Amino acid sequence: MGNEKEEVKEEQKREDEEDEQVVNPWEVSAKDGGKIDYDKLIDKFGCQRLDSSLVDRVQRLTGRRPHVFLRRGVFFAHRDFNEILDAYERGDKFYLYTGRGPSSEALHLGHLVPFMFTKYLQDAFKVPLVIQLTDDEKCMWKNLSVEESMRLARENAKDIIACGFDISRTFIFSDFNYVGGAFYRNMVKVAKCVTYNKVVGIFGFTNEDHIGKISFPPVQAVPSFPSSFPHLFPGQDNLRCLIPCAIDQDPYFRMTRDVAPRIGYEKPALIESSFFPALQGETGKMSASDPNSAIYVTDSAKDIKNKVNRYAFSGGQDSIENHRKYGANLEVDIPVKYLGFFLEDDAELEHIRTEYGAGRMLTGEVKKRLTEVLTELVERHRRARAAVTDEMVDAFMAVRPLPNMFY
Ligand code: TRP
Repeated sequence: MGNEKEEVKEEQKREDEEDEQVVNPWEVSAKDGGKIDYDKLIDKFGCQRLDSSLVDRVQRLTGRRPHVFLRRGVFFAHRDFNEILDAYERGDKFYLYTGRGPSSEALHLGHLVPFMFTKYLQDAFKVPLVIQLTDDEKCMWKNLSVEESMRLARENAKDIIACGFDISRTFIFSDFNYVGGAFYRNMVKVAKCVTYNKVVGIFGFTNEDHIGKISFPPVQAVPSFPSSFPHLFPGQDNLRCLIPCAIDQDPYFRMTRDVAPRIGYEKPALIESSFFPALQGETGKMSASDPNSAIYVTDSAKDIKNKVNRYAFSGGQDSIENHRKYGANLEVDIPVKYLGFFLEDDAELEHIRTEYGAGRMLTGEVKKRLTEVLTELVERHRRARAAVTDEMVDAFMAVRPLPNMFY
């Protein structure tokens, strides 16, 4: 049976990963403390590389400069993104779906990446967006109480709203509140198509995992189907869905795309990002238990300055003479990597790369510029979040039609 063949393939993949890198929704680790090999990941997962012709196409279709994350390859992989653009070109719309597992109170910069990008997509294509807060997922994986997960979902919703989403085109929902009705009916349809072997193959569950985890994947799958939102997309069962996410979420959507045609639905398309590196370098994991491995949106200007100066891994040489002679190793330099995410000005970034790489610019100068850029970003976020009221959270999360969501 065709299915079984796929299961074997999945198992093989997992075995390969045992001595190599591991990337799944719960674990991201590179081989022997090296870097994540994204080319390998594309092969292994079977997604497509997002090449510059697609980026150019986005520019043509939207009539605006593609986001930095597209221009600089932060979003580097996709599944059927070209089909979404084909449809859009014909005048067909689509909707966006992304989400967050509310496992912590304060978000770090890596958490903002998909939301900043999704906001750009929403503005550029003028399309509706659903945002799933998987409070149920984190309650099951992180040993949080139901109440605490629900509280964190609302707190995180404020940070998400602070990214600037348009309330007339955005529906935010938490699983504990929204799951039921048409959404639940779709979950059951999906669940009936996925065997236990299959989820074990895709997600690596063991016999010791509780059944909540095993039954969760349909919850994250079904926002990919417009019929899960009858208040938004009535009678639009063929509306296509585009999911911006980090590539660790790919297993959920491999499963979703596998099931979709079997229950008469369109496969969701995906646009996937690499991971935002830890301050200590791309080998280090950004760990929630080590506050010094990441910049949080709650960090003060002083915190940011300290963290960048003390912890950001530098590709600069160990003495000024050597630095002048050999230049910085940009491949491993975290300040340059971070500037690649958040310094908008292409010319300035190029200037820094050239000068620093040639040893004419010193680590201290690059770190100073990074500190300015991050402080401004974090300040802007802090102000925007402070302006988000409980009423606004309720308004974004209200189950309501969005009459002008395509205009
Ligand atoms: N599982 C994701 C997390 O832990 C949350 C999530 C739900 C998500 N639906 C999504 C992420 C869709 C990206 C796209 O953060």
